[in-house]
Amino acid sequence: MSIEEFQQHEFFKHVSPDAISHYINNYDSPLYLYSKRIVTHAYTKLRKGLPSNFEIFYAQKSNPNKNILRHLNSLGVGCDTASLGEMDAALNAGFTADRIMFTGPAKREAELRYAVENNLLSINVESIQELMLVNEIAQEYDKEQNILVRINPLYETGETTKIIGGTGVSKFGIDIEDIDEFFAALKKTTNVALKGIHIFNSSQILDWEKIYNNTKNVIDTAIKLSCNYTFEVTHIDLGGGFGIPYSAEEKPLDITRLGDELFKLVDSEEYKGFLDGVDLIFEPGRFLSGHSGIYLFKVLYTKTSRGKNILLTDGGIHHLLRPALIGTGHPVVNITAYYEKRTTKSNYMVAGPLCTSLDCFGEEICLTESKPGDILAVLNAGAYGFTESMPLFLSHPPAKEKFID
Ligand SMILES: Cc1ncc(COP(=O)(O)O)c(C=O)c1O
Repeated sequence: MSIEEFQQHEFFKHVSPDAISHYINNYDSPLYLYSKRIVTHAYTKLRKGLPSNFEIFYAQKSNPNKNILRHLNSLGVGCDTASLGEMDAALNAGFTADRIMFTGPAKREAELRYAVENNLLSINVESIQELMLVNEIAQEYDKEQNILVRINPLYETGETTKIIGGTGVSKFGIDIEDIDEFFAALKKTTNVALKGIHIFNSSQILDWEKIYNNTKNVIDTAIKLSCNYTFEVTHIDLGGGFGIPYSAEEKPLDITRLGDELFKLVDSEEYKGFLDGVDLIFEPGRFLSGHSGIYLFKVLYTKTSRGKNILLTDGGIHHLLRPALIGTGHPVVNITAYYEKRTTKSNYMVAGPLCTSLDCFGEEICLTESKPGDILAVLNAGAYGFTESMPLFLSHPPAKEKFID
């Protein structure tokens, strides 16, 4: 990424060059820097853009950093969790139990117990066996546990990179064709209350229309099921999937247009009656945390191999696996070159210290000419970065994390 492009990036727009230079001058090991201001900015954009009857729950899996959690809680966001560790972190960060949901295809019994004990807003069940186990646990505690049923629909939202989406066989949710079996099983339960449905099948969506169509599909599914099986829907979890651009070719999601169209949808005669009093919940992760983080790391050596320029760095996929895992690049910029006002550019393979060729942030990354000692930054590293990596491989120290106000 060129310096000019970097100057247009969210991080640079919201974090002063002085704040960044402090970390460059005092660099001692790879570091994730998160900006509170950018989290606020992303949240405000979403909150202002979406009609007020859509609630926002943060998908903690995108970044469970405790400062980010505390900050989002202070902004009034709820929390989507996917493990005992995440439920615990959400409660510790101050989210109240009635603002926490628990979703995931293979929940351990101890995790379900924890959710029931803590009276979470809902457990989103993903199989009939899980439904029966939740019922058993709630019975033991003499409680009624609220649940949503997670559904694997027949349609797909159109994720361009395989993350969670796709039609057909899925470990997530109950196939819509088998929903009869779910409702038959539900009749045998005594201590669960079905409050609605959950459908989330795609991530990294940049086209507002795809999110709009998905939202409409989920609401239509809820209406149909509530009529067919006569139950009252009070919650509809519409999933996350709000994308952010990772390359110059990708355009940002048009939240204003999405919000305008959603407003018309929920305000229409067709839906208004049904949706009155229903909590519509989006659970975005990447959109709230993605831009807020950069990953700083250092060039240790430069060399060429068969004509290719290579930068060998102390950072790698042990700290930031996503480029190798998903197979798509993140923007990378040479921050030292920016401060030194260097201008010449070159293409580089940027590769880390691990003993695998997978440990590479890109084979042809365009950077300002780089030297040993330069500090590089991977941008958009706030989501699916620190915790979606492989920190134990080769026993390097973990990356540090700093949250800047
Ligand atoms: C159940 C659930 N909710 C929310 C999210 C967040 O998705 P995104 O970061 O694309 O908004 C995920 C991501 O995998 C998920 O599995």
